[in-house]
Amino acid sequence: MKHLIDPTDLTKQEIDEIISLAQDIIAHRERYQGSMSHKKLATLFYEPSTRTRLSFTSAMMELGGNVLGFSDARSSSVSKGESVQDTVRVVGCFADVIAMRHHIEGAQLYATEVSTVPIINAGDGSHSHPTQTLTDLLTIQRELGHIDGITIGFCGDLRFGRTVHSLIKALSRYKDIKVILIAPDELKLPDYIKQDVCERTGIPYREVATMEEVMGELDVLYMTRVQKERFLDEDEFDRVKDSFVLDAARMSLAKKKMAVLHPLPRVNEILTEVDADPRAAYFRQVENGKFVREALIVKLHEWKDDPEHGMPVQDEPVYDDTLRCVNPKCICNNEHAPHKFRRGEDDVLRCWYCDSKVR
Ligand code: CP
Repeated sequence: MKHLIDPTDLTKQEIDEIISLAQDIIAHRERYQGSMSHKKLATLFYEPSTRTRLSFTSAMMELGGNVLGFSDARSSSVSKGESVQDTVRVVGCFADVIAMRHHIEGAQLYATEVSTVPIINAGDGSHSHPTQTLTDLLTIQRELGHIDGITIGFCGDLRFGRTVHSLIKALSRYKDIKVILIAPDELKLPDYIKQDVCERTGIPYREVATMEEVMGELDVLYMTRVQKERFLDEDEFDRVKDSFVLDAARMSLAKKKMAVLHPLPRVNEILTEVDADPRAAYFRQVENGKFVREALIVKLHEWKDDPEHGMPVQDEPVYDDTLRCVNPKCICNNEHAPHKFRRGEDDVLRCWYCDSKVR
């Protein structure tokens, strides 16, 4: 069965099909109304959301389907101690597809091991957010007319920014992508993305200290919020929270045809004076999120029982009783998920669920 847990669960061809269908839905919305009638989407949100949950809801409604679920796990039997796996087993009796957001990394992957319906990862901790990635790809395509060949600057919180991690993984499938990383030392991109994605797939990347030195090179500037909720140390958050702010003066250094993306919500990293600039694409990006989620729901339904569209083949997991995942926010340190690992091409072992390096 096809789930979407990580952007690499989709082949490049499948991503192209979803983006192309989303564009057709935008052009011919009436053709798709009713295509999911009598189908149900469950939205299980263990962590707050505005865009992702409501765009999934709106997408399913546009397709003529119905939506059930919770936006606060405390109102469900999770508050009585029900596990993620038991919850999806139960919800699979009521719904045809599940969109789940969880603060615990790897929770959705663990859930797929028992689910009878497709699971869509709507964000797991700092790890991954593949439907935001589809939104971002559609937005870049619509703003610039192409994705191949772009130079993209990621700015702000690249350490905890799951949307950044997922988008870099997806861009590794495209041609001639250049990545520029603009972040303070405390918020640099994790090594596993630099090594396993950029270096392994040959995406050139460089790290810089200021926005000004690269603004003129960028086709896309991807701004991110410094996420207070991910910090274990409040002093560290206070030191970096105002690191990079996009204003009209900095926009004046950019190309005439550049797109500013931001997964939102923003706090203060883009001043509102930028909103009227035609290159500010972040509110158009929100609307694209609804269309691309419509396309994803349609495609997952179409692919559900098609062996041509299964999950990617994985190497066998490595089990070693002497090893433990070191990430306190990983599912295997929060529920009874087994500590298991995958061996990368560099011979490094990483947690099966959250990708944390083991040795
Ligand atoms: N972009 C995004 O994931 O927004 P929400 O947290 O509001 O869903």
